[in-house]
Amino acid sequence: RTCALLGVPIETGASQRGCVMGPASLRTAGLAEDLPTLGWQVTDLGDLTVGPQAPKAHRNPALHHLAETSAWIAALHRAAYDAGKASAVPVFMGGDHAMAAGTVPAMARRAAEAGRPLFLLWLDAHPDLHTLDSTESGNLHGTPVAYFTGQPGFDGFPALPQKVALENVCMMGIRSVDAAEKSRIRELGITVKDMRAIDETGVLAPLRAFLEKVERNKGMLHVSFDVDFLDPSIAPAVGTTVPGGATFREAHLIMETLCDSGLVSSLDLVELNPFLDERGKTAKLLCDLTASLFGRRVLDRMTRSAY
Ligand code: ARG
Ligand code: MN
Ligand code: MN
Ligand code: MN
Repeated sequence: RTCALLGVPIETGASQRGCVMGPASLRTAGLAEDLPTLGWQVTDLGDLTVGPQAPKAHRNPALHHLAETSAWIAALHRAAYDAGKASAVPVFMGGDHAMAAGTVPAMARRAAEAGRPLFLLWLDAHPDLHTLDSTESGNLHGTPVAYFTGQPGFDGFPALPQKVALENVCMMGIRSVDAAEKSRIRELGITVKDMRAIDETGVLAPLRAFLEKVERNKGMLHVSFDVDFLDPSIAPAVGTTVPGGATFREAHLIMETLCDSGLVSSLDLVELNPFLDERGKTAKLLCDLTASLFGRRVLDRMTRSAY
């Protein structure tokens, strides 16, 4: 099986700088060397680049870097789609989470052309469900989910190539939700397994229920992994840490279970800010989690498909 790595050094969607170094940090931690040992044929497509942009005005004065972020998203609609053509499982190395507004619609288009629905597993402390009007911080990494599920209020972003059905989205790890997002979650009826739910049931039951739905619908599955999904004690390299995140063992169990399912068709690794890391600790953890997703095991065991 083939895997393409695409670097997406975007940081204009975040509140602080540093995510531009994310792809380099993941490469330094050995992402491209780990996967071939697991039987994957890996191609590194290098880093996507976007040139300087003329500023774009918007009625929400809090918004910043709208033109640059929008240019990244447009470039990704093409580049992520091409990476999906070039390999079975593209891995998008971010970069802040605004990049999901590029990668997810591109993967939805890829799925639609294969006659299959796209499902999305969103692993994050935040639902990133603001519109351009409702964001108070103005940080565009807080908006991609509202955009690619087709909510109104995104003039200023590129036209959406393909939307993701709301009922195909599952969020896990959520523990920081703004008021506008809270009412949007209720209105839209998105499946959100917040930390309370995870504390009650563990990660496995809701994950398996979601994976069964993906399988039943013969779906493709995109996983969008925000570093702040993890507890800050194990993953300090992110600008938006929230206490009480997923543990090392919960995160590995999720990745191994995803691997067993054989359903994952693309992955985002986002919000890694190496400027905030401790001796590469977070980058190495992300590489290990990715290796679990791509088949690394302590011991061999029965899986539903030979991944
Ligand atoms: N909801 C907050 C905001 O809009 C935090 C968003 C954090 N998003 C992220 N991708 N880290 O500013
Ligand atoms: Mn922010
Ligand atoms: Mn996020
Ligand atoms: Mn987050």
